[in-house]
Amino acid sequence: MEFSVKSGSPEKQRISCVAVGVFDSRKLSLSAQILDDSSDGFISNLIRRGECEGKLGQTLLLHNVPNTLCDRILLIGCGREKHFDIKAFQKANHVVSTFLDDRGATEVFSCITELNVKNRNSAWKVSHAVQATEDSLYTFNQLKSKKENTRRPLRKVIFSVPSRRELPDGEQAVREGMAISSGIKLTRDLSNLPGNICTPTYLAEVAKNLEITHRGFKTEILEEDDMEKLGMGSFLSVSRGSRQPAKLISMQHMGGDKNQKPIVFVGKGVTFDSGGISLKPGGAMDEMKYDMCGAASVMGVMSACADLQLPYNIIGIIPATENMPDGLATKPGDIVTSMSGLTVEVLNTDAEGRLILCDALTYAQKFDPDVVIDIATLTGACIVALGSHTAGLLGNHNPLINDLLNAGRDAGDRCWELPLFDDYQQQLDSNFADIANIGGKEAGTITAACFLSRFTKKYHWAHLDIAGVAWNSGKNKGATGRPLPLLMQYVFDRIAETK
Ligand code: BES
Ligand code: MN
Ligand code: ZN
Repeated sequence: MEFSVKSGSPEKQRISCVAVGVFDSRKLSLSAQILDDSSDGFISNLIRRGECEGKLGQTLLLHNVPNTLCDRILLIGCGREKHFDIKAFQKANHVVSTFLDDRGATEVFSCITELNVKNRNSAWKVSHAVQATEDSLYTFNQLKSKKENTRRPLRKVIFSVPSRRELPDGEQAVREGMAISSGIKLTRDLSNLPGNICTPTYLAEVAKNLEITHRGFKTEILEEDDMEKLGMGSFLSVSRGSRQPAKLISMQHMGGDKNQKPIVFVGKGVTFDSGGISLKPGGAMDEMKYDMCGAASVMGVMSACADLQLPYNIIGIIPATENMPDGLATKPGDIVTSMSGLTVEVLNTDAEGRLILCDALTYAQKFDPDVVIDIATLTGACIVALGSHTAGLLGNHNPLINDLLNAGRDAGDRCWELPLFDDYQQQLDSNFADIANIGGKEAGTITAACFLSRFTKKYHWAHLDIAGVAWNSGKNKGATGRPLPLLMQYVFDRIAETK
């Protein structure tokens, strides 16, 4: 998609379509009002007859509106003006692009970016309008043998900004929005790929490819024998049951000062989670191909940061493996030694995420991190607690927790903190090892984070449990690309802080 920004009056746009907002109930936005004035009340006449109430998501396409230079005007219902928030803004942009793409319109001048969203400036609106547009047109049919040919897809979107003064910021926002969108697309594509294609080796290849396509990017792949030497007995206890070799992928984008401590992202990369010997039940087991969504989001962040050549040091670490029940697989009751030296009694082989993350988190120390943020589809319990709208957040450093809460709120990709009180730690007591890998049926998301907390004492750390937000189940099954918007906002906030 081609995106740009422009400042100019809507009635003067020589283009096939101009999109303007109408609020509930029947209230014209400023640009709709301007079009109405120049057409002698053409729009308000229709609206008075009840053709468009302004309910969020409503559409009305008008042809041959007098005294305008465009072929068509698309009215977009935006809901109640005082409720026009991030969600409504995204929805309005979604509707513009899907409606026009469906009807074979190839270009649009969209005035949705001129509407007021509380506390958001034009640049924010332009970047998020780009993201919403790309998001709405995303499809994953690379594995279908017959390609649907969209006859004349929407290919050019021009967003309106209120004055020429805002053009440079708007253009930068277009670039940012496009880079974030392509990171999100990478995340969704990798997540949607099935386990027989997206193996640990495949993820390693994609990471290697980022090194080839981006200046200054560095990728390093550790093989199983390298990990053996580092003593990653916990990680390797998961890959034992699989024929696919595990990989530990690390990626570096060092765009900042030499002395700047990096932000380190760690993503759970279980390319298929069968549960191992503690085998999962069959229903919906296919969705366990999504158990690498954390890894995919780290890949997306790294790629977006590198695309934008962001002036910050950012590192991504991905422990990648399958969790399978082959003959050599780890058995319930087995005791393994992690890289940190702590021994772990594996009481349930389906609690494998923490087993691979703990060694990756210990490995992260070598980068002398400012903060470490891990992202993982870690617990079904998180879906019970927070559903699919909000990611779980836990950590050992309040300022980092607050930064992530704020970034999520600002990006429309929210998370919420669960307590990591010491009281829960005893649930991990083991009779035979330093720690057990499960903490019983209560507070499953918290005890999983308690497990990780034993390995993150040397730095500021936060954990995002994205089991609920990373993909949709059911009829519209597919990866969402979350929490990429949150993570990118966090990085932008950190960069702004150093200026
Ligand atoms: N990958 C799963 C968590 C999961 C389950 C994510 C369902 C999304 C949907 C994880 O490896 C797992 O199996 N966790 C167990 C932990 C339990 C054995 C303590 C779970 O949540 O049941
Ligand atoms: Mn599991
Ligand atoms: Zn898992």
